Amino acid sequence: MSINPERFLKSLHDLRQFGASGVGKGVVRPAFSDDDIAARNWLADQMRAAGLTAHFDPVGNLFGLADGPSILLGSHSDSQPEGGWLDGALGVMAALEVARASDVPVSVVSFQDEEGRFGVTTGSAIWSGNLPLDQADGLKDHAGVPFAEARARMADLAGDFVHPSRFTGYVEMHIEQGPTLDTDGEQIGVVTEIVGIRDMKITFDGQQNHAGTTPMHLRRDAFQALSAFNAELEERFRNVVTPRTVWTIGHVSLHPNASSIVPGRVTFSMQWRDGDPDRLNRMEEIVRATAGDIASAKGMEVSFGPLLGLEPVAMDTKLQSVLAASAEQVAPNKWRKMPSGALHDATNVAQLMPVAMLFVPSIGGISHAFEEDTDEADLVAGVQVLFGAVNALF
Ligand code: GLV
Ligand code: MN
Ligand code: MN
Ligand code: MN
Repeated sequence: MSINPERFLKSLHDLRQFGASGVGKGVVRPAFSDDDIAARNWLADQMRAAGLTAHFDPVGNLFGLADGPSILLGSHSDSQPEGGWLDGALGVMAALEVARASDVPVSVVSFQDEEGRFGVTTGSAIWSGNLPLDQADGLKDHAGVPFAEARARMADLAGDFVHPSRFTGYVEMHIEQGPTLDTDGEQIGVVTEIVGIRDMKITFDGQQNHAGTTPMHLRRDAFQALSAFNAELEERFRNVVTPRTVWTIGHVSLHPNASSIVPGRVTFSMQWRDGDPDRLNRMEEIVRATAGDIASAKGMEVSFGPLLGLEPVAMDTKLQSVLAASAEQVAPNKWRKMPSGALHDATNVAQLMPVAMLFVPSIGGISHAFEEDTDEADLVAGVQVLFGAVNALF
């Protein structure tokens, strides 16, 4: 029994055709887009061909179920608005290949909206209970579309939520999305823990006005507020953060966004990540206080959207050792244990069952970009490690 590398690589490239960006191997396959739904239907066919029962739940998570108790393998098949071809897709197609190649019971999952069009790892967060469905339904994407409306697009496919008790554990293979393995010439990372995250929208409301006639000292300019907020936040974070703490303003919506209008309103995403929950909470206080102080200083209003968050989680130690033993077989001395700074569905699934993750290198450490890639030899080595570990568990 062994995996079939050609079959696995072909399937991975087949999935890439859904939402292919035309720039390198990149994909544009956000959750519930036409390409995402088409890819999920294609995946369901692949699952059936592998002898699994394909099942969509009410939020678009797609399971390929083995009969009886099984180990669950997978990741997500939605992408960022400008995404790479491997982020998520690799874990799903690796899972399918291991299911095809194994005699032991393996189920496969592709979670929905891991990339957070609506929330943070929305599909697995709902399945695990980390995000109540009625709260999720009210979340809106940056264009104002509610989650409830998006998931209604898949309502004709939807069955019930899958009961987690049918799974004995969850293992997710993923690209590292950072430079560690690539820089050190290693092939496999066995993940020890996943960082925590906080994410919310912030709005500054000022006064829209004429850009030629409004004197500088009379302006209540939303962009100036955002700019001052960003600079002040860096100052106030200084004594709180560590070199591994990160924060990002990744989406900005400036109103009305025209050259000759002083902008009256800005809504932006504010996200921060760290391995220590106390630090994440301290940072939240600083974010709120800084935004409040900037708004008062500039005579503006500030408002905050719902705070979404996931706590840091440790990977199951027994599953880690099984992955480590398999990595040592497949890539002797070319693997390491490491934490994950990216978020993964495994964070949520850890609420339900033992979970573990393995990483393969990202060339140049690049991800969430069309350039994202990994050497074929590393992709195949990762699937071999996953296959060896799963078969060692039974
Ligand atoms: C999910 O892709 C993340 O941002 O870590
Ligand atoms: Mn991912
Ligand atoms: Mn991602
Ligand atoms: Mn992710």
